[in-house]
Amino acid sequence: MNQLSTRHLTGIRGLTRNDLELIFKTAEGFKEVINRPIKKVPSLRDFTIANLFFENSTRTRLSFELAEKRLSADVLNFSANSSSVAKGETLVDTVNNILAMKVDLVVMRHPHPGAASFLAKKVKTVVVNAGDGTHEHPTQALLDAFSLLEKHGDVSGKNIAIVGDIRHSRVAISNILCLKLLGANVRVCGPKTLIPKHIMSLGVEVSHNLDETLQWCDVASMLRIQLERQDAHAVPYFPSLREYAAQFGLNTHRLQKLDRPITIMHPGPINRGVEITSDVADSQHSIILNQVENGVAIRMAVLYLLSAQG
Ligand code: CP
Repeated sequence: MNQLSTRHLTGIRGLTRNDLELIFKTAEGFKEVINRPIKKVPSLRDFTIANLFFENSTRTRLSFELAEKRLSADVLNFSANSSSVAKGETLVDTVNNILAMKVDLVVMRHPHPGAASFLAKKVKTVVVNAGDGTHEHPTQALLDAFSLLEKHGDVSGKNIAIVGDIRHSRVAISNILCLKLLGANVRVCGPKTLIPKHIMSLGVEVSHNLDETLQWCDVASMLRIQLERQDAHAVPYFPSLREYAAQFGLNTHRLQKLDRPITIMHPGPINRGVEITSDVADSQHSIILNQVENGVAIRMAVLYLLSAQG
């Protein structure tokens, strides 16, 4: 099959194993393209894409924009804090106004879980979810899995730990769904307060002991504490960042206790000194910048394949 089973990319949920394999195969080709002296292909010429960012982003926004430009698409960039959203315009009105300008595909980041699926039902154009609240971040999971496949050849049977603020993480949910579909063993690790009980329904193991989890895993993906999604007036989820780093921060001392190296990942943005120390983030076993590099090829693949679904 050289077609995706979906018209939109609102999440990893709903994708098939064939979809993943098609995206990775297409991304391999595009990765070769973006490493050539001439990094551009005409695949999306005369195709217009709007990037709608209702929430802050560095990696995802720049990487989608670069992917679109490498494919020769026309690109519109919209950010909520400099738009008429600030005057009370609704999401659907905002998007319909943009679509009236003959846009073919919308990439959207939004703080509300389900916003991408909602939009996909309301508008006629193709929608790509660039992160919707605590729900899903599908292209992050795809680029993470692609980076692991590059490093390890196969992830089937590999032990992969996702460590940190699972409760507020769309990256964790999308990664779990993607890695399980590829046959990996997935464990989440963090304080009890930051691991919701429903996570076990996704077929993952749960641990509250980082040292024991590091002994178990081949790969550790470290997540940021999402302070911006935590209610400032509620009882805190942990006593202090210092205490969190002592219990759940990845550092050289912890890694030196292992009898073999493990692969270190982080979706970014990193809070250095909290979930991971600088020396570990920048070490030879870290593939953090490979993840960022692969983001462009994966997003080119997703946009290219979805453009054919129109
Ligand atoms: N990983 C990620 O989504 O980063 P940004 O929030 O900077 O896009």
